[in-house]
Amino acid sequence: MKVKEAIEKRRAYRSLKETKISEEIIEEIAKAASLAPSCFNKQPWKYVFINDNKLLTQIKSLLSKGNEWARKSSLIIAVFSSEKDDCIIKERKYHLFDTGMATAFLILRATEMGLVAHPIAGFDNQKVKNILNIPKEYELIALLILGEKSPEISDDLSDWQKEAELKRPERKDLKEFAFINKFNP
Ligand SMILES: Cc1cc2nc3c(=O)[nH]c(=O)nc-3n(C[C@H](O)[C@H](O)[C@H](O)COP(=O)(O)O)c2cc1C
Repeated sequence: MKVKEAIEKRRAYRSLKETKISEEIIEEIAKAASLAPSCFNKQPWKYVFINDNKLLTQIKSLLSKGNEWARKSSLIIAVFSSEKDDCIIKERKYHLFDTGMATAFLILRATEMGLVAHPIAGFDNQKVKNILNIPKEYELIALLILGEKSPEISDDLSDWQKEAELKRPERKDLKEFAFINKFNP
């Protein structure tokens, strides 16, 4: 699959069905993350791949309202990093930028492998950190919800979520964020 195709195919789908996500798949998507660029090659990203059923049940009980759909996930990945593990150049802290880039690589590779990899911010941050043994100095940035797209739209979705299954949410026009030569909004 070409990069352009993976970028266009990736969607934050919410209608999932269970699928087996093997250790080989985990290794493959982790490897894709490892190839991302980072400041001075610091590679600050950290991931916990959660496939243990008991742990998955615990994490799924900590999802925010509106994220009930994510209970059908087959694997959840916790994405976290610490500013101490990456460049700090004056006021510029690079760990979130670098971890975001690595995570985009991971998501695109998962997409290429036919999986849905949906990032979410809606969960009880402190409780998830405690369960996963993530120390205080790390920022738990997102959870990635992995699964296979179900051909049927899940019943537990709201109207707007059902609509988003069929049509990608609108994007800003390029002229709202892309400028030539000078920032001139
Ligand atoms: C940092 C981040 C947090 C998100 N949090 C949630 C969330 O808590 N629940 C949810 O259903 N989707 C969440 N999303 C998915 C976005 O809603 C989705 O990417 C956006 O609507 C665009 O749709 P698309 O990815 O299918 O193009 C999140 C995405 C990102 C990158």
